[in-house]
Amino acid sequence: MQFYAPAAYDDTALGFSEISTVPLASAMGAEIRGVDIARVSERQFEEIRSALYRYKMIYFRNQEISPADQERFTLCFGPFGTDAYTQGMPGHPNVQHLVKEAATVVPRVFGETWHTDSPFLPRPPAISLLYGLEVPPYGGDTWWSNTELAYSFLSETMKELLAPLRVHMSGREVIRNTVVTSEKGRKKVGEIEITMDQQHIIEGSFHPLVRTHPATGKKSLYVDHAYSLGIQGLDNEEAAAILGFLQRHITREIFTCRLRWENRSFVIWDNRSVIHYAFNDYDGYRRELYRTIVEGEKPE
Ligand code: SIN
Repeated sequence: MQFYAPAAYDDTALGFSEISTVPLASAMGAEIRGVDIARVSERQFEEIRSALYRYKMIYFRNQEISPADQERFTLCFGPFGTDAYTQGMPGHPNVQHLVKEAATVVPRVFGETWHTDSPFLPRPPAISLLYGLEVPPYGGDTWWSNTELAYSFLSETMKELLAPLRVHMSGREVIRNTVVTSEKGRKKVGEIEITMDQQHIIEGSFHPLVRTHPATGKKSLYVDHAYSLGIQGLDNEEAAAILGFLQRHITREIFTCRLRWENRSFVIWDNRSVIHYAFNDYDGYRRELYRTIVEGEKPE
């Protein structure tokens, strides 16, 4: 099976002269070389954005990035999005500090289910950017799946059936399974303090189950395992049959790529066309990352 013509992986064919790309898997993902994120030029940025739309997840190795650099680079894509879970860092309210200490053991880490970021919001984040300052020597990988490619592999009849449906995205199960309330009444996932409006997240939003990317016009499945709880107008059993099928379909291994982090890797993904999953397999090692998000549109 070949998803894209070989030319689709060629920098010249893609019009890249300021960056070079090394695909990670057939379905999605690419390393971008020749870029210093703290000093990116306008022309490089345009090629980086185009590579993101092409590969859905892109990453850069060996980047020295301060929170201020990450904020500056994030703003090239658009205004900061609202983080539904945390208040950000002192002095950098739009940078979320995600850390799990070596001694911390939690039943689930932040992001440990297939999900798209905060889809319960009326305008979920478009793009997420994650800088891994200190990561385990092994373990703690992140896995992505290409939901645009998954959509393209559905039959025309299934596409027609899904076209009018709206999915209920709610944080109810994530809160129930992941967030722990401490004796002092603080809500936490390991070290990460959660300062969210729980009721708002549980009520969630109804979004098109098939959405169209605002820049590329391509359709993708907007569904995941963590937040997709129902379908408007269907009863629970009817919705479960469709969601169950789609959840299996969008996570077929062939649509995925998996990143082995290194210290100072910087990763960007497009929440409109991928879902992702954080592994919880690194107890005994510290993992420290910095996350920013770009405001999204109302899914259409
Ligand atoms: C996330 O889900 O945003 C975090 C991913 C990770 O920690 O690997």
